[in-house]
Amino acid sequence: MIFQANPGATYTAYQAEIDAAIQRVLSNGWYILGKEVEAFESEFAIFCEVNHAVGVANGTDAIELALRALDIGVGDEVITTGHTAVATVAAVELAGAVPVLVDIEPEFYTLDPIAVEQAITSHTKAIIAVHLYGMPANLTALQKIAEDHHLYLIEDCAQAHGARYQGSRVGSTGIIGTFSFYPTKNLGAFGDGGAVVTQDTSLYERMKALRQYGWRSRYISDNTGMNSRLDELQAAILRVKLRYLENDNQKRRDLARIYDEALNSSSLLRPAVRQGTEHVYHLYVVQVDEREALIQKLREHGVGTGIHYPQPIHRQPAYHGRVRTVPEDLPALMSVTPKILSLPLYPELSVDDVHYVAKTIVEE
Ligand SMILES: Cc1ncc(COP(=O)(O)O)c(C=O)c1O
Repeated sequence: MIFQANPGATYTAYQAEIDAAIQRVLSNGWYILGKEVEAFESEFAIFCEVNHAVGVANGTDAIELALRALDIGVGDEVITTGHTAVATVAAVELAGAVPVLVDIEPEFYTLDPIAVEQAITSHTKAIIAVHLYGMPANLTALQKIAEDHHLYLIEDCAQAHGARYQGSRVGSTGIIGTFSFYPTKNLGAFGDGGAVVTQDTSLYERMKALRQYGWRSRYISDNTGMNSRLDELQAAILRVKLRYLENDNQKRRDLARIYDEALNSSSLLRPAVRQGTEHVYHLYVVQVDEREALIQKLREHGVGTGIHYPQPIHRQPAYHGRVRTVPEDLPALMSVTPKILSLPLYPELSVDDVHYVAKTIVEE
C-alpha cells in the first residue's frame, strides 16, 4: 500500500539518531521545558531566520497564544481563509475573537487579498495568512493591507515549514509566525507539538509567559496564561528531524517535479507555484472532475489519497450560519472543493512509487 502520508517512514529513516535522542531525555530525568526545548527553540529560530521561537503544545495553541499575546480577544474580528484546517478558525474562537472567512485565489489555494480588504471593519484586528499545502500566501499584498489598515499580520505556517517568500522564510514577515509539529507535517514530532516565532523581543517574553500560566517567575502569574508546553521528548525528536528538514523539503520538491511531468498529458490540474516562492509541498494537490472514480481506481491499485478539505469550514455543522464569509459563501473555494485531491507525497516515497501512482492515474 502506498499511503498519502507516512510519518512512520521518517522514524525508520532516522531511527538510530531518534532512539538516541529519546534515550538521552529518558535518562536525563527532566521531561517538561528543559534543555532540549531550549536548544530546539534556538535552533528553530535560526532555521526560520527570526530572533525568537517558543515551543508550545500544538499548532492550534500557537495561534491562540499569538492572538492573546497581541491582546486580541472578545469584540475583535480576525480575518483568515475559509480554506484551512479547522484549527485556524477554532483558535480564533478560543482567543474569544470572531473569525471572518475570506475566499481564495483558486490557483494557489491561499487567501485572496482583494477579499481580505473587503472584509475589514472597525472591529478587525488581525489577518491570519495560511500558507496552505506548503505554498506561501501573497505576503506582499497582505502585508500592505495590514500596514494600510493598522492590522497585525500573523502567519499560520503549520503546512509550510521552511518555505520561502521572496527569499524570506515563512513566519519571518508577519508579527508572529505559528507552527504545528503534528506527525505528518514537514517537520513532525511523534506526538503533538507546535511553536510561535517572532522578531519582537517583548512579544517573545509575553508568549513565553503565556504558555505556562502567565508565569514571569515560578509560581507567580503576571497574566492569566494557559498550559501549552512542548515536552522534552518531542523537542529532542524535533532537533534530529530539523537537521534534515531542508533536505526532506528538497526531496518533496523533486518528487513533485516528477508528478508534474508525468501528469502533464492528463486532464488533471496540477499545483501552481507562485513566482518568487519556494514551495515545500506539504501536500501535492490536484484538481480532477471525476474525483470519486479516481479515488476508487487508485485504492484498487493500492494507492491512498486524501482530501484537504472535503467541506469548507463555513459549511461544517459547527460553523454553519455562524461565521461571516466574504464574499458571501466563498464561490472560488466552493468551486474547487469537489475537485481537490491530495496524492501520496512524503520524503521517503520512492521515485518508482511516484511513477506508479502517476501511471495508474494516466492509464485508462
Ligand atoms: C493550517 C493549519 N493550521 C493549524 C493547524 C493546527 O495544528 P495542530 O493540529 O498541531 O493543533 C494545522 C494542523 O492540522 C494546520 O494544518
